[in-house]
Amino acid sequence: MTQSPPKTYHVKSFGCQMNVYDGERMSELLTARGMTPASEGAEADLVVLNTCHIREKAVDKVYSDIGRLKREDGSRPMIAVAGCVAQAEGSEITRRTKAVDIVVGPQAYHRLPGLIDDVVAGREAVDTDMPAHSKFELLPGRTRRSGPSAFLTVQEGCDKFCTYCVVPYTRGAEVSRPWSAILDEARALIDAGAREITLLGQNVNAWTGEDEAGRMQGLDALIRALDRLPGLARIRYTTSHPNDMTQELIEAHAEVPKLMPFLHLPVQAGSDRILKAMNRSHSRESYLRILERVRAARSDIALSGDFIVGFPGETDAEFEETLSIVREARYAQCFSFKYSPRPGTPAADMADQIAADVMDERLQRLQAALNTHQHAFNQATVGKRTTILLERKGRHPGQLIGKTPWLQSVHIDAASAAIGDLIEVDILSAGPNSLAGLIASRQAA
Ligand code: 5AD
Ligand code: SF4
Repeated sequence: MTQSPPKTYHVKSFGCQMNVYDGERMSELLTARGMTPASEGAEADLVVLNTCHIREKAVDKVYSDIGRLKREDGSRPMIAVAGCVAQAEGSEITRRTKAVDIVVGPQAYHRLPGLIDDVVAGREAVDTDMPAHSKFELLPGRTRRSGPSAFLTVQEGCDKFCTYCVVPYTRGAEVSRPWSAILDEARALIDAGAREITLLGQNVNAWTGEDEAGRMQGLDALIRALDRLPGLARIRYTTSHPNDMTQELIEAHAEVPKLMPFLHLPVQAGSDRILKAMNRSHSRESYLRILERVRAARSDIALSGDFIVGFPGETDAEFEETLSIVREARYAQCFSFKYSPRPGTPAADMADQIAADVMDERLQRLQAALNTHQHAFNQATVGKRTTILLERKGRHPGQLIGKTPWLQSVHIDAASAAIGDLIEVDILSAGPNSLAGLIASRQAA
């Protein structure tokens, strides 16, 4: 069946920050093709669901979303499934639901315009290639106005093969973008309004590349090069793997003024036996030693992590080791998940899958512990003066929300400040998830 060419679009991203970045690039691509974003509340001619495959729940969401796109008169928009579900399930998706017109993987979305033409012409539109040519070389330059805080993907894919994780299969092998392409994109983002750039990668600290002089460099050198860009105020990076946490990168935390004191360094579990079964290739002790070195370089650093409870075979005693590593690490914030068996991963076939009620209880206990630490970290900033970058409006009139260097959200009443400003605030109070502040004095931007 042929369809008329879509004129408006809406891109909806799920999952990680790399998907948010890909969603922005797809929007720019569709705009370059002459399409316009559908206005708030209006129905788009093309809906792109930019999906996440990391846990089963995320995948279920896609299919329920597709069902909801059906209109009252029985018609529906053109639907594209992009992202990691597209990569993992491919044409299985169009077989399972006829409502989907396009399936496009995370390494092939630069071909979205051609796939739209295929649908219009009545051809099959499934593309889950991992082409030799990087999509980045073929995408149009950054065109949209940027918010004060922008994402920039510098590295994709993963070679670590943790036994629970689909990422090495959906995003492919580790690939670093070239030095000059990253710096060009950073300059474009700054020109478009960005004051903070977060460098993104599945293993961002595995980034390597040649600098202008042809010397091989790591993420630390890239961060130092970004530090020299005028107009940029803050640099962050995420997500890192413990094994790629080089001494040079740790030292950058002590030496690079624009690098924010925040590190997201997942450990996943506290027991060496579970870490081994997860194929994490680091131990509890080696991880804790890295945290010590990071704290020695930057004593005020806020640490963050990811945890999985209920990995196959995890005993009560092994789970207790996760609780004790949380106490030792003193995280500022964390993400925690119930283990979700993913098709095609080694852990999905392991014996001793953990019962749902055991996982529920472990997750509750872990989250209670993590919340206590997060609250204590937030509480410790009360009474302090710090700088925040104002990023968005709050719920109440006149209220703005900004981020501290440690990535905490601060609500302020902001008659004399605007989004994009870096301002000094006094922290008045702390809740579990955010802080309240009062403007101290306007800073020269
Ligand atoms: N089940 C539960 N959590 C998972 N993660 C990755 N794979 C799984 C899975 N199969 C979590 C890890 C990772 C984060 C992005 O998602 O904690 O760091
Ligand atoms: Fe997945 Fe492990 Fe790679 Fe992270 S390091 S993306 S958890 S395989």
